[in-house]
Amino acid sequence: MTHPPDAPRMAVLISGRGSNMVSLLRAAAQPGFPGRFVLALSNRPEAAGLAHAQEAGLAAEAVDHRVYADRAAFDAALDARLRAHAIDLVVLAGFMRVLTPGFVEAWSGRMLNIHPSLLPLFRGTHTHAQALAAGVRLHGCTVHFVVPELDAGPIVAQAAVPVRPDDDAETLAARVLAEEHRLYPAALALVASGRARLEDGRVVFAPEAGCAAGALHSLPV
Ligand code: GAR
Repeated sequence: MTHPPDAPRMAVLISGRGSNMVSLLRAAAQPGFPGRFVLALSNRPEAAGLAHAQEAGLAAEAVDHRVYADRAAFDAALDARLRAHAIDLVVLAGFMRVLTPGFVEAWSGRMLNIHPSLLPLFRGTHTHAQALAAGVRLHGCTVHFVVPELDAGPIVAQAAVPVRPDDDAETLAARVLAEEHRLYPAALALVASGRARLEDGRVVFAPEAGCAAGALHSLPV
């Protein structure tokens, strides 16, 4: 693996199957990717994704949320593991725990999430069912910087898919997931390279990244 010498050290946080994590690790293994994954963390020791991370040569660790008295104690343990690995950038990929404001503020501008909807529409869970119930004709996914408010935060990139008349939540989810796997590595590359960064609560793009960001917004479906 060859990465720029100053490539940020990245951690991916998961809770389950980890398909986004796999696509991120694959992209980041390409020569020249502007960040280096060194750690996979799960709040569930049984998460299938941890084995994939280990195979890929990362440190794979579980911080089981069930053994901590409250959210603050769990987040403190998470923070300690991230700092032990000298992490620069935290990448939430299907990490299904609400994080405390203190933790989020500590990693402000250095923590990304992917959400399976075109935010600010359809926060929370069951986003595909929500989209079908609302009758939208376009649905998709969003990569955003994490802020204390749940499923909110300055948007780095989005990808849209059409909603088909015969879609159910499952078929729609599959179409969105394919876009997630394309969008997240591209958005992460923008942030890891510093071409997209958080400034005064907004995402600022480097001039040459404007085109890249625009291309992400209009990915073919
Ligand atoms: C993905 O669809 C991701 O967008 C979603 O969980 C799934 C995880 O799948 N995340 C959220 O809903 C966060 N609010 P994966 O484990 O296969 O990557």
